[in-house]
Amino acid sequence: MSTTPDPAASSPASPLGAARPAPKTGSRAGARTLAVTSGKGGVGKTFVTANLAAALALRGQRVLVLDADLGLANLDVVLNLHPKLTLHDVFTEKATLDQAILPAPGGFSVLLAGSGMVEYSRLTPEVRDKLLHIVEMVRPRFDWILFDTGAGISDVVLFSISMAADVLVVATPEPTSLTDAYATIKVLATQQDRREVGLLVNQANRVGEGKLICGQLQQVLQRFVGARPGQSFKLELLGEVKNDLTVRQAVLKRQLVLEHYPGSDAAQAIKALANKLLG
Ligand SMILES: Nc1ncnc2c1ncn2[C@@H]1O[C@H](COP(=O)(O)OP(=O)(O)OP(=O)(O)O)[C@@H](O)[C@H]1O
Ligand SMILES: [Mg+2]
Repeated sequence: MSTTPDPAASSPASPLGAARPAPKTGSRAGARTLAVTSGKGGVGKTFVTANLAAALALRGQRVLVLDADLGLANLDVVLNLHPKLTLHDVFTEKATLDQAILPAPGGFSVLLAGSGMVEYSRLTPEVRDKLLHIVEMVRPRFDWILFDTGAGISDVVLFSISMAADVLVVATPEPTSLTDAYATIKVLATQQDRREVGLLVNQANRVGEGKLICGQLQQVLQRFVGARPGQSFKLELLGEVKNDLTVRQAVLKRQLVLEHYPGSDAAQAIKALANKLLG
Protein backbone atom coordinates (compact mmCIF):
# COMPACT_ATOMS: atom_id res chain seq x y z
CA MET A 1 0.00 0.00 0.00
CA SER A 2 1.10 3.56 -0.17
CA THR A 3 3.58 5.01 2.26
CA THR A 4 0.96 7.64 3.04
CA PRO A 5 -1.42 6.29 5.67
CA ASP A 6 -4.84 5.69 4.28
CA PRO A 7 -6.95 4.68 7.27
CA ALA A 8 -9.99 3.61 5.33
CA ALA A 9 -7.96 1.79 2.81
CA SER A 10 -6.66 -1.39 4.36
CA SER A 11 -6.56 -3.54 7.40
CA PRO A 12 -3.05 -4.21 8.66
CA ALA A 13 -3.59 -7.94 8.29
CA SER A 14 -4.46 -7.83 4.62
CA PRO A 15 -1.90 -8.88 2.02
CA LEU A 16 0.11 -6.60 -0.23
CA GLY A 17 0.70 -3.25 1.39
CA ALA A 18 4.43 -3.05 0.74
CA ALA A 19 5.93 0.39 1.00
CA ARG A 20 5.86 2.22 -2.28
CA PRO A 21 5.32 5.84 -3.23
CA ALA A 22 1.80 7.13 -2.74
CA PRO A 23 -0.43 6.36 -5.69
CA LYS A 24 -1.09 9.31 -7.95
CA THR A 25 -4.63 9.48 -6.69
CA GLY A 26 -3.23 10.88 -3.45
CA SER A 27 -3.88 9.94 0.12
CA ARG A 28 -7.44 11.08 0.67
CA ALA A 29 -9.29 8.52 2.73
CA GLY A 30 -11.44 6.26 0.67
CA ALA A 31 -11.49 3.15 -1.40
CA ARG A 32 -8.70 0.63 -1.59
CA THR A 33 -7.58 0.65 -5.18
CA LEU A 34 -6.57 -2.53 -6.99
CA ALA A 35 -5.54 -2.82 -10.62
CA VAL A 36 -6.06 -6.19 -12.30
CA THR A 37 -3.62 -6.65 -15.14
CA SER A 38 -1.78 -9.42 -16.97
CA GLY A 39 0.48 -8.52 -19.84
CA LYS A 40 -0.93 -11.18 -22.17
CA GLY A 41 -4.54 -10.71 -23.23
CA GLY A 42 -7.41 -13.12 -22.78
CA VAL A 43 -6.11 -14.75 -19.60
CA GLY A 44 -9.11 -13.88 -17.39
CA LYS A 45 -8.67 -10.31 -16.09
CA THR A 46 -12.27 -9.31 -16.71
CA PHE A 47 -13.64 -12.59 -15.35
CA VAL A 48 -11.55 -12.20 -12.18
CA THR A 49 -12.34 -8.49 -11.73
CA ALA A 50 -16.10 -8.86 -12.14
CA ASN A 51 -16.37 -11.91 -9.91
CA LEU A 52 -13.99 -10.50 -7.30
CA ALA A 53 -16.19 -7.39 -7.19
CA ALA A 54 -19.22 -9.63 -6.55
CA ALA A 55 -17.33 -11.58 -3.86
CA LEU A 56 -16.31 -8.36 -2.09
CA ALA A 57 -19.89 -7.08 -2.36
CA LEU A 58 -21.08 -10.30 -0.73
CA ARG A 59 -18.83 -9.41 2.19
CA GLY A 60 -20.61 -6.08 2.54
CA GLN A 61 -18.06 -3.98 0.66
CA ARG A 62 -19.05 -1.09 -1.61
CA VAL A 63 -17.24 -1.85 -4.83
CA LEU A 64 -16.78 0.06 -8.06
CA VAL A 65 -15.26 -1.58 -11.12
CA LEU A 66 -13.76 0.86 -13.55
CA ASP A 67 -13.38 -0.47 -17.07
CA ALA A 68 -9.87 0.79 -17.68
CA ASP A 69 -9.54 -1.13 -20.93
CA LEU A 70 -10.23 2.07 -22.84
CA GLY A 71 -9.42 0.69 -26.28
CA LEU A 72 -11.16 -2.69 -26.22
CA ALA A 73 -13.59 -2.45 -23.34
CA ASN A 74 -15.75 -5.52 -22.79
CA LEU A 75 -16.79 -5.51 -19.16
CA ASP A 76 -20.28 -4.54 -20.36
CA VAL A 77 -20.39 -7.67 -22.52
CA VAL A 78 -19.33 -9.95 -19.68
CA LEU A 79 -21.95 -8.39 -17.37
CA ASN A 80 -24.64 -8.26 -20.05
CA LEU A 81 -25.11 -4.54 -19.55
CA HIS A 82 -26.20 -2.17 -22.27
CA PRO A 83 -25.13 1.17 -20.91
CA LYS A 84 -26.61 4.34 -22.30
CA LEU A 85 -23.98 6.36 -20.47
CA THR A 86 -20.30 5.56 -20.22
CA LEU A 87 -16.96 7.08 -19.30
CA HIS A 88 -17.04 8.71 -22.71
CA ASP A 89 -20.07 10.78 -21.69
CA VAL A 90 -18.34 11.77 -18.46
CA PHE A 91 -15.19 12.74 -20.38
CA THR A 92 -17.22 14.89 -22.77
CA GLU A 93 -19.38 16.28 -19.94
CA LYS A 94 -22.56 14.91 -21.44
CA ALA A 95 -23.20 13.01 -18.23
CA THR A 96 -22.30 13.35 -14.59
CA LEU A 97 -20.39 10.65 -12.77
CA ASP A 98 -23.53 9.79 -10.85
CA GLN A 99 -25.39 9.16 -14.07
CA ALA A 100 -22.63 6.98 -15.51
CA ILE A 101 -22.04 4.81 -12.44
CA LEU A 102 -24.36 1.88 -12.96
CA PRO A 103 -25.48 -1.01 -10.78
CA ALA A 104 -24.18 -4.37 -11.97
CA PRO A 105 -25.47 -7.85 -11.26
CA GLY A 106 -23.55 -9.07 -8.24
CA GLY A 107 -24.28 -6.03 -6.13
CA PHE A 108 -21.45 -3.77 -7.17
CA SER A 109 -21.18 -0.64 -9.32
CA VAL A 110 -19.50 -0.16 -12.67
CA LEU A 111 -18.16 2.69 -14.70
CA LEU A 112 -18.03 1.32 -18.21
CA ALA A 113 -15.83 2.45 -21.02
CA GLY A 114 -17.96 1.15 -23.87
CA SER A 115 -16.82 1.28 -27.45
CA GLY A 116 -16.80 5.08 -27.56
CA MET A 117 -13.50 5.22 -25.71
CA VAL A 118 -11.31 4.03 -28.56
CA GLU A 119 -10.22 7.61 -29.21
CA TYR A 120 -8.89 7.76 -25.64
CA SER A 121 -6.77 4.67 -25.92
CA ARG A 122 -3.74 6.91 -26.40
CA LEU A 123 -2.54 8.54 -23.23
CA THR A 124 -2.74 12.30 -23.58
CA PRO A 125 -2.52 14.81 -20.72
CA GLU A 126 -6.28 15.24 -21.10
CA VAL A 127 -6.98 11.53 -20.63
CA ARG A 128 -4.62 11.40 -17.63
CA ASP A 129 -6.29 14.36 -15.94
CA LYS A 130 -9.79 13.12 -16.60
CA LEU A 131 -9.08 9.63 -15.29
CA LEU A 132 -7.33 10.98 -12.20
CA HIS A 133 -10.18 13.36 -11.53
CA ILE A 134 -12.76 10.60 -11.83
CA VAL A 135 -10.88 8.32 -9.45
CA GLU A 136 -10.46 11.17 -6.95
CA MET A 137 -14.19 11.84 -7.09
CA VAL A 138 -15.27 8.24 -6.54
CA ARG A 139 -12.71 7.20 -3.93
CA PRO A 140 -14.58 8.55 -0.90
CA ARG A 141 -17.77 6.76 -1.90
CA PHE A 142 -16.52 3.19 -2.14
CA ASP A 143 -14.54 0.68 -0.12
CA TRP A 144 -12.89 -0.74 -3.24
CA ILE A 145 -12.16 0.46 -6.73
CA LEU A 146 -11.07 -2.32 -9.08
CA PHE A 147 -9.45 -1.34 -12.37
CA ASP A 148 -9.99 -3.88 -15.13
CA THR A 149 -7.05 -2.93 -17.32
CA GLY A 150 -6.33 -3.77 -20.91
CA ALA A 151 -3.71 -6.25 -21.99
CA GLY A 152 -0.13 -5.24 -22.66
CA ILE A 153 2.04 -2.53 -21.19
CA SER A 154 0.96 0.47 -23.23
CA ASP A 155 1.13 3.85 -21.56
CA VAL A 156 -2.64 3.83 -20.93
CA VAL A 157 -2.43 0.44 -19.22
CA LEU A 158 0.57 1.50 -17.13
CA PHE A 159 -1.13 4.76 -16.23
CA SER A 160 -4.31 3.04 -15.11
CA ILE A 161 -2.22 0.68 -12.99
CA SER A 162 -0.36 3.65 -11.51
CA MET A 163 -3.66 5.00 -10.18
CA ALA A 164 -4.01 1.91 -7.98
CA ALA A 165 -2.20 1.31 -4.72
CA ASP A 166 -2.14 -2.44 -5.28
CA VAL A 167 -1.78 -4.65 -8.33
CA LEU A 168 -3.06 -8.13 -9.04
CA VAL A 169 -1.38 -9.79 -11.98
CA VAL A 170 -3.42 -12.57 -13.59
CA ALA A 171 -1.39 -15.26 -15.35
CA THR A 172 -2.15 -18.69 -16.73
CA PRO A 173 0.39 -21.54 -16.66
CA GLU A 174 1.08 -21.02 -20.39
CA PRO A 175 4.69 -19.97 -21.07
CA THR A 176 3.53 -16.97 -23.13
CA SER A 177 1.37 -15.72 -20.27
CA LEU A 178 4.16 -16.22 -17.74
CA THR A 179 6.68 -14.38 -19.91
CA ASP A 180 4.29 -11.46 -20.32
CA ALA A 181 3.43 -11.45 -16.61
CA TYR A 182 7.14 -11.34 -15.81
CA ALA A 183 7.72 -8.47 -18.26
CA THR A 184 4.79 -6.54 -16.78
CA ILE A 185 5.93 -7.01 -13.20
CA LYS A 186 9.45 -5.97 -14.14
CA VAL A 187 8.11 -2.74 -15.63
CA LEU A 188 6.01 -2.13 -12.51
CA ALA A 189 9.07 -2.64 -10.32
CA THR A 190 11.30 -0.38 -12.36
CA GLN A 191 8.93 2.33 -13.59
CA GLN A 192 6.48 2.46 -10.69
CA ASP A 193 8.89 1.45 -7.97
CA ARG A 194 6.61 -1.31 -6.75
CA ARG A 195 8.11 -3.74 -4.29
CA GLU A 196 5.09 -5.99 -3.86
CA VAL A 197 2.66 -7.31 -6.42
CA GLY A 198 -0.11 -9.89 -6.05
CA LEU A 199 -0.43 -12.87 -8.37
CA LEU A 200 -3.46 -14.91 -9.34
CA VAL A 201 -2.79 -18.03 -11.35
CA ASN A 202 -5.85 -18.62 -13.50
CA GLN A 203 -6.79 -21.73 -15.47
CA ALA A 204 -4.51 -23.84 -13.31
CA ASN A 205 -4.35 -27.50 -14.31
CA ARG A 206 -3.81 -28.88 -10.84
CA VAL A 207 -3.86 -27.82 -7.21
CA GLY A 208 -0.56 -26.28 -6.18
CA GLU A 209 0.39 -25.08 -9.65
CA GLY A 210 -0.09 -21.48 -8.53
CA LYS A 211 2.40 -21.87 -5.70
CA LEU A 212 4.94 -23.44 -8.02
CA ILE A 213 4.57 -20.70 -10.64
CA CYS A 214 4.69 -17.94 -8.05
CA GLY A 215 7.90 -19.40 -6.60
CA GLN A 216 9.54 -19.56 -10.02
CA LEU A 217 8.54 -16.01 -10.95
CA GLN A 218 9.60 -14.73 -7.54
CA GLN A 219 13.05 -16.24 -8.00
CA VAL A 220 13.64 -14.57 -11.33
CA LEU A 221 12.21 -11.27 -10.13
CA GLN A 222 14.32 -11.28 -7.01
CA ARG A 223 17.40 -11.87 -9.12
CA PHE A 224 16.48 -8.92 -11.31
CA VAL A 225 15.01 -6.42 -8.85
CA GLY A 226 17.00 -7.60 -5.86
CA ALA A 227 20.19 -7.07 -7.84
CA ARG A 228 19.89 -3.41 -6.97
CA PRO A 229 21.42 -2.56 -3.59
CA GLY A 230 19.06 -2.69 -0.63
CA GLN A 231 16.06 -3.73 -2.65
CA SER A 232 13.86 -6.77 -2.49
CA PHE A 233 10.76 -7.78 -4.34
CA LYS A 234 7.80 -9.79 -3.17
CA LEU A 235 5.38 -11.56 -5.45
CA GLU A 236 2.52 -12.74 -3.31
CA LEU A 237 0.26 -15.55 -4.45
CA LEU A 238 -3.25 -14.29 -3.75
CA GLY A 239 -5.18 -16.97 -5.56
CA GLU A 240 -5.35 -19.96 -7.82
CA VAL A 241 -8.38 -20.60 -10.03
CA LYS A 242 -8.59 -23.92 -11.81
CA ASN A 243 -9.43 -24.31 -15.45
CA ASP A 244 -13.16 -24.63 -14.89
CA LEU A 245 -15.87 -25.28 -17.46
CA THR A 246 -18.37 -23.22 -15.46
CA VAL A 247 -16.29 -20.09 -16.20
CA ARG A 248 -16.67 -20.61 -19.94
CA GLN A 249 -20.37 -21.38 -19.50
CA ALA A 250 -20.93 -18.27 -17.40
CA VAL A 251 -19.05 -16.04 -19.87
CA LEU A 252 -21.07 -17.47 -22.76
CA LYS A 253 -24.29 -16.73 -20.88
CA ARG A 254 -22.91 -13.35 -19.78
CA GLN A 255 -23.35 -14.25 -16.16
CA LEU A 256 -21.23 -14.09 -13.05
CA VAL A 257 -19.82 -17.44 -11.95
CA LEU A 258 -20.28 -16.30 -8.40
CA GLU A 259 -24.02 -15.80 -8.85
CA HIS A 260 -24.90 -18.63 -11.18
CA TYR A 261 -22.41 -21.33 -10.19
CA PRO A 262 -21.73 -20.40 -6.57
CA GLY A 263 -20.67 -23.93 -5.68
CA SER A 264 -18.12 -24.22 -8.48
CA ASP A 265 -14.39 -24.44 -7.86
CA ALA A 266 -13.94 -21.11 -9.62
CA ALA A 267 -16.49 -19.32 -7.43
CA GLN A 268 -14.90 -20.76 -4.28
CA ALA A 269 -11.46 -19.65 -5.43
CA ILE A 270 -12.64 -16.11 -6.12
CA LYS A 271 -14.30 -15.96 -2.70
CA ALA A 272 -11.03 -17.10 -1.16
CA LEU A 273 -9.25 -14.29 -3.04
CA ALA A 274 -11.73 -11.75 -1.62
CA ASN A 275 -11.23 -13.13 1.88
CA LYS A 276 -7.48 -12.89 1.51
CA LEU A 277 -7.68 -9.29 0.33
CA LEU A 278 -9.93 -8.41 3.24
CA GLY A 279 -7.47 -10.00 5.63
N1 LIG B 1 -10.59 -20.25 -14.80
C1 LIG B 1 -11.02 -20.36 -16.06
N2 LIG B 1 -11.43 -21.56 -16.55
C2 LIG B 1 -11.88 -21.69 -17.80
N3 LIG B 1 -11.94 -20.69 -18.69
C3 LIG B 1 -11.56 -19.46 -18.29
C4 LIG B 1 -11.09 -19.23 -16.96
N4 LIG B 1 -10.79 -17.90 -16.86
C5 LIG B 1 -11.04 -17.35 -18.07
N5 LIG B 1 -11.50 -18.28 -18.93
C6 LIG B 1 -11.88 -18.07 -20.34
O1 LIG B 1 -11.03 -17.08 -20.88
C7 LIG B 1 -11.80 -16.12 -21.59
C8 LIG B 1 -11.14 -14.76 -21.49
O2 LIG B 1 -11.37 -14.22 -20.21
P1 LIG B 1 -11.40 -12.65 -19.97
O3 LIG B 1 -12.24 -11.97 -20.97
O4 LIG B 1 -11.72 -12.44 -18.53
O5 LIG B 1 -9.85 -12.32 -20.26
P2 LIG B 1 -9.16 -10.89 -20.27
O6 LIG B 1 -7.80 -11.11 -19.70
O7 LIG B 1 -10.02 -9.89 -19.61
O8 LIG B 1 -9.07 -10.59 -21.83
P3 LIG B 1 -8.65 -9.20 -22.53
O9 LIG B 1 -7.16 -9.12 -22.41
O10 LIG B 1 -9.13 -9.36 -23.93
O11 LIG B 1 -9.34 -8.09 -21.78
C9 LIG B 1 -13.18 -16.18 -20.96
O12 LIG B 1 -14.14 -15.84 -21.91
C10 LIG B 1 -13.32 -17.60 -20.51
O13 LIG B 1 -13.93 -18.36 -21.51
MG1 LIG C 1 -10.76 -8.02 -20.33
